[in-house]
Amino acid sequence: MGEPPWWQSAVVYQIYPRSFCDANGDGVGDLEGIRQHLDHLVWLGVDAIWISPFFRSPMKDYGYDVADYCDVDPLFGTLEDFDRLLAEAHASGLRVLVDWVPNHTSDQHPWFQASRRSRQDPKRDWYVWRDGTPERPPNNWTASFTQSPAWTWDDATEQWYLHLFLAEQPDLNWNHPEVVAAMHDTLRFWLDRGVDGFRMDVIQCIGKHPALKDVPEKVQSIPYCALNDDPRTHALLRDIRRLIDSYPGERTSVGEVVLLDTRQVASYYGANDELHLSFNFPPLYAPWDAESWQKQIARVEAAFAPRDAWPTWVLSNHDNPRHRTRYGSEARARAAAVLLLTLRGTPFLYAGEELGLEDAVVAPDERLDPGGRDGCRAPIPWRAAPPHGWAGERPWLPWSPHAETRNAETARADPDSILHLYRRLLAVRRQSAALRWGAWEALPTCAGVLAGLRTHGEDRRAILVNFTDEPRELALAGSWTVEVASHGAAGERYEGALLPDQALVLR
Ligand code: NOJ
Repeated sequence: MGEPPWWQSAVVYQIYPRSFCDANGDGVGDLEGIRQHLDHLVWLGVDAIWISPFFRSPMKDYGYDVADYCDVDPLFGTLEDFDRLLAEAHASGLRVLVDWVPNHTSDQHPWFQASRRSRQDPKRDWYVWRDGTPERPPNNWTASFTQSPAWTWDDATEQWYLHLFLAEQPDLNWNHPEVVAAMHDTLRFWLDRGVDGFRMDVIQCIGKHPALKDVPEKVQSIPYCALNDDPRTHALLRDIRRLIDSYPGERTSVGEVVLLDTRQVASYYGANDELHLSFNFPPLYAPWDAESWQKQIARVEAAFAPRDAWPTWVLSNHDNPRHRTRYGSEARARAAAVLLLTLRGTPFLYAGEELGLEDAVVAPDERLDPGGRDGCRAPIPWRAAPPHGWAGERPWLPWSPHAETRNAETARADPDSILHLYRRLLAVRRQSAALRWGAWEALPTCAGVLAGLRTHGEDRRAILVNFTDEPRELALAGSWTVEVASHGAAGERYEGALLPDQALVLR
């Protein structure tokens, strides 16, 4: 048997391009800014980057409203800038995933412009239109962000159109074969350019039952995107998988499945013929306590292992408060880094977590995002002195707290920084078959401590995470050495005691 595919042992690093680094001085990050910091990622030791949307967009949802799937928005640069970034990333050994947004387009996309022109337009049915009266939407679905109906009435053609997100993000009709073909072409466009795969936005929403039935009243206030779970999506994903797998070089997909039941999430791997990987968000929403995490890990193992589906782990992204902010201290963020990088599955890091960044405090009059997600999108501070390595004086959002001390330059000069901890964990992971591919076995433990064993052949590691802010004692059978400590000494024999908030990798 050959080695498992690269995406099972990779660590993926998410870049939100508006916030990563601005090279041209307009206050918004760009592709050239990413290119200039590839050395940071290589030094850190990640394997791949996923870049959130940089396609042409009116930016109502900051790029998740795409007006042209096959071009770069001038705000971020040009297709040539992308090609250069991709070539340099590949030359440095980094794979690149782009963000595919298949559920909806921008209302400015030429497809929707045509579709809304008249009921007779050949593209009318590329979107989801329904009859009705202006007073009463066709069903009771709720849109994300606004908590209002997922429908907008179009005066000119006197029909409603569906949008699970903003009114400026009309849903594509994936029941129409021409939509399927056109969207497959957008995948080919980026695969032909050489990308290593895709993160797929709200992927479980693309297949919808054409009856568009009401949801039960008790779940009506939940955005419909978190409820849609239709067999059509699985069929669509099998075709998408065949397309991606027809390209050489182990191209991959990681789907954003926003369902809160881990078994449902696992179903989107099909029989290894749908998604290669899927996000699983319940752990991201779980509180920082050992018992919750034991439960989450057990649920993932129970849902994923029987299908031979490979899990993923993520603590932060551009849609949620950073885990440094949620968990409330750097000590916990350090322990969380040990956990994230030693669980069985592919970890996803969100740019800036390796610096221990907290969410920015955004004053009411500076808020921009309709979903209230500005805080976690604060710009990445590269240097200690303002404007922290950004061209231009003022980025589009305020800095996160303590940017003058919490930045890449300062962290790199301090061997005890959280940045160096991430780097050590990545190095240890890379060298250990147990950490990359090994099975996970929960070990007997005491209250407040998570303990697990990773084993692959002869290689094994024990992982201990003290979720409490008190010292804990936990004896382990056999003799173990501390390989990485979230804080405190490493390189010594493990004597059966954990410091408050401490997490350890033992070998
Ligand atoms: C999920 C993305 O992560 C989020 O940022 C976006 O607003 C929605 N999908 C809609 O595309």
